[in-house]
Amino acid sequence: MSICFDKVSKSFGGKKVLDQISFEINKGEIFFIIGKSGVGKSVTLKHIIGLLKPEQGNIFLDECCVNELNSEELTILRQKCGMVFQHPALLDFLSIKDNVCFGIRNQQLTAEELKKSACAKLALVHLNEKILNQYPHEVSFGMQKRVSIARALTLNPQYLLFDEPTTSLDPISKNAINDLILELSRSLNVTSVVVSHDIDCALKIADRILVLEDGKILALGTTTEIKNSKNPFLIEFLSETFINSWDQVS
Ligand SMILES: Nc1ncnc2c1ncn2[C@@H]1O[C@H](COP(=O)(O)OP(=O)(O)OP(=O)(O)O)[C@@H](O)[C@H]1O
Ligand SMILES: [Mg+2]
Repeated sequence: MSICFDKVSKSFGGKKVLDQISFEINKGEIFFIIGKSGVGKSVTLKHIIGLLKPEQGNIFLDECCVNELNSEELTILRQKCGMVFQHPALLDFLSIKDNVCFGIRNQQLTAEELKKSACAKLALVHLNEKILNQYPHEVSFGMQKRVSIARALTLNPQYLLFDEPTTSLDPISKNAINDLILELSRSLNVTSVVVSHDIDCALKIADRILVLEDGKILALGTTTEIKNSKNPFLIEFLSETFINSWDQVS
């Protein structure tokens, strides 16, 4: 076990978003959290790195109770976690190299060491070092997405947290980013938590999938278990989601 949610509840303005949610994520797993828009996927992810605190329950990361940490302890904990946001969120006024090295900018490294680190991380996401001195607006959206993943790898995290990594991408780029998540998770031996509404991507690469609905866990299982589930609510959810994702592509 590496991440554990123990009876976690969270409300905003009287609306219960998470209602006594409990689940565990194993070390080295690719764990997808899926569900409809507004169901609490990003809220769940934010609890893992202490960006949100539960009103009830606890979140553990490597046996450490995240919601009880002070801000210094949280900073140390977050160094174990590489976060990839839905939008690349690169800084326009910094070069690709400086964006990738943002997390190590205060480590008093030489220019050569920073360059070496940036090149190594760009190589992991299959980007050529020729773009090091370019600026975010000079590269494609798909490349910006890869740069944001390279940035998340800078501190050699044990956990990679992705919030909607394939949203706004065309089908080919979407599959390429999905494949990259699989490749990085296995080659770097990290635990990946992927928040997505894309069941198609989840079924391709997830070890296990958690489905959220109405503040509760609708289903949790391997891709085979999810696909073969006889739960009528899950069957309805999957058919609706497949129809929606088909609509978006066609
Ligand atoms: N900081 C906040 N303050 C108030 N309400 C919030 C806050 N963060 C999230 N919410 C609310 O909690 C609910 C769940 O939000 P969340 O962002 O987790 O949804 P989601 O499942 O990630 O949706 P999407 O697929 O659209 O990204 C929403 O109703 C949202 O408005
Ligand atoms: Mg979200």
